[in-house]
Parts: sequence; structure tokens; C-alpha cells
Amino acid sequence: MPTEFISITFPNASTELDPIIGAGVDPEFVVRYSRTLDDNGFNYTLIPYDSGSFDPFTLGATVLAVTKNIKVIIALRPNTMYPTVAAKMLATLDQLGKGRVVVHFIAGGSDAEQAREGDFLNKEQRYGRLEEYIRILRRAWQSADPFDWEGEYFQFKQFSNRVRPVNGTIPVSVGGSSDEAYRIGGSLADIFGLWGEPLKETKEQISRIYAEADRAGRAPNDRPRIWVTFRPIIAETEELAWAKAHRTLDLLKANRSQGLGKTPANAPPPQNVGSQRLLEIAARGEVQDRALWYPTVTATNARGASTALVGSPQTIIDSLLDYVDLGAELISIRGYDNLNDAIDYGRYVLPGVREALKKRENGAAPSNGHVVPVEADKS
Ligand SMILES: Cc1cc2nc3c(=O)[nH]c(=O)nc-3n(C[C@H](O)[C@H](O)[C@H](O)COP(=O)(O)O)c2cc1C
Repeated sequence: MPTEFISITFPNASTELDPIIGAGVDPEFVVRYSRTLDDNGFNYTLIPYDSGSFDPFTLGATVLAVTKNIKVIIALRPNTMYPTVAAKMLATLDQLGKGRVVVHFIAGGSDAEQAREGDFLNKEQRYGRLEEYIRILRRAWQSADPFDWEGEYFQFKQFSNRVRPVNGTIPVSVGGSSDEAYRIGGSLADIFGLWGEPLKETKEQISRIYAEADRAGRAPNDRPRIWVTFRPIIAETEELAWAKAHRTLDLLKANRSQGLGKTPANAPPPQNVGSQRLLEIAARGEVQDRALWYPTVTATNARGASTALVGSPQTIIDSLLDYVDLGAELISIRGYDNLNDAIDYGRYVLPGVREALKKRENGAAPSNGHVVPVEADKS
């Protein structure tokens, strides 16, 4: 499978650095931004979910309608929609987009956030429900006959789906860093999403996911594809990039202290393991590996993907290739100045990574000496 790039869709021009308070969906921005991603060679865009924010399905339909190649990754929390409805909505969207839909499942990392939409299951139950949900969706997409479901979380009789995904099924992604996430994602997902951790920790996480895939009886060539996520801060030279990184950090801190950030100044420690891991790594030092920068993690209480990569385009390209060498096939990059960063990545980063990979295919040795394929964790 080739290395592919993921971005994220924003509903308007508001950014973490320059927030537009109360901004609604800006249709012109959505069209412009989506076409920018498409024209610049991004393969996917995540449409994230948040209890208080915009609907990913309608945004996704708009992105698909105004682009040609990019696929949408619809973030979906199983508590928000009955699985038979989700199966049809995703398949309808997939038909509209001629097969360009992926679903990214969020079991739910925070009890308080889940409670905002009436979900009071504990985390273990939420992952149990997710497992059932994925099985139902796949059956609904593939089954020609009506079927009953007698599960712990869902029960129904004689559901019959006439809305089929274009390619027979829709790729299922799972994100998280807890034991439950590894188990459900490793055993069932087509794609496993991780945030940006150092190479060593990423390698450990990948081997945990592979071990769960093996335990579930999946063949080595059927393991989930690995997705890693970064927030690159690039400029023409290393020096300029680091100056930009510090300006970014100052703005993130100032906005948060004035209540303009996505994370309140007095936010409690995060409950999801992925964010806890990022904060623990951040406490060990500011820079990891070549250019993985953690102060943006601490400044935002690790809310969502928050690890930066700082440097010239070549440093960013080499850093991303390190993760490709670990087995990551899906590279998510989004910056802090959303639209302009997408253009910069399209101009300087994506072609560089693709060119390096092409050279390797044609026999050149990797320039960064990191070819360490990950084995499944046998422990
Ligand atoms: C790549 C990626 C994308 C994510 N997108 C979202 C999202 O759109 N909305 C959301 O609430 N959580 C999102 N998450 C967060 C996790 O799915 C969430 O924290 C998970 O339910 C539980 O985390 P844990 O298993 O690490 O404790 C994302 C995570 C990853 C790795």
C-alpha cells in the first residue's frame, strides 16, 4: 500500500491562533479549503466530531461534492446514532462520493464529554458497544438478507439494508491509545489512528496493535494500516521555523489564558489515555527525535492531536520518513494556520516524501537509516 496523506476539515477560517468567536459554517471557505487539499495531493480529510460542533456528514457531503479525489473520514461516536442508521448514512454518502468515504470511530475518551449527549456508559462498556457497532455496520453493508441482532448493546429484528457502499464495504478506522483501543482496533479495524509520539513509543504502540490483530487471527498482510498525526511548523530555514514555533506557542498560551482556546485555562487532566501519554512524554523534554516538539501539547492540555514537528521542509520530510520506516502508511499533517499550512505542505512536504519513496522503490537506500520493521508484541 502506498503512503497517503490526511488533513482535517475546518468549517470556517477560525484557527487556534486567530479564533473567530462564534463563527458558523462558511460555505465559501469549506469549498476553497477542500479544493486546496484536493489540488495539493492530500488523499483524505478527517471531519472531526465534538459534542458541541458541526455535523460531519453534511460537511462531508459538501467536501465530496466540490472535489474529485480526496476521501472524507467521517468521525463518528456510536452513542450518537443507531448503527442501522449509520450504516445507511455512510453508504449513501459513499455513493454520493463514488466510493470516497472512510469512517473513524471514537469510543469516547471523556466521561464528561460523553455525558453531554446522554452517554453514561463507562469506558470498557463504550469499547464493548463499539465492537458490536462495527460488526453490525459491516454486516449491514455486506448482507444480502434481512438479519436480526441480539447483542448486549443493540437488539433489532429483520433489518434489511438496500444502500450498499460502492466498493462493497467502507474502511473502518479506530483511534486511541488505551488497552481497549488496541484490542478493538487491532482485532477489527482497517486503519488504526495514533497521535504523534516519538519513534520508540510509536513503535511500541504499533507492536501492541499488531499483537491484537494476530491474536484475533488476522494474517500479517491483513493488519490495520497505521495512521500517525502531526502538526508541522515549517519555514524556509531551521532558524525561521523555530522562531515561528515559539510565536505559535506564545499565541496558543495567550489565547488559552484569555478563554479563547479550545481548552479552558483550568481544564482538568484529560481522561483519555492518548492525551495522558502525550503529557507524560512532554514532561520528559521539549524535543524528541529529530524535531518532534511537545510544548504545544502542554499548552493545550493535549486536547486532540497537538504534537508539532518543527523545521525546514527537509527536516519535516525526513521526520515523516522515519515514521514511514516504522510502518505508518497514513500520515496526517495539519498546522496551526490551517489554509496556508495546507498549501505549504502541498508545495514542499508531500512531493518531497513521495519523491523520496519513489527513489527507494527504484533501488536507492533510505537516507535516514531507519528501516526497522515492527514486530507484533508477543508478550
Ligand atoms: C487520529 C485520531 C483522531 C481522533 N479524532 C477524534 C474526534 O474527531 N473527536 C473525538 O472526540 N475524539 C477523537 N479522537 C480521540 C480518541 O478517539 C478518543 O480519545 C478515544 O475515544 C479514547 O481514547 P483512549 O483509548 O486513548 O483512552 C481521535 C483520536 C485519534 C488518534
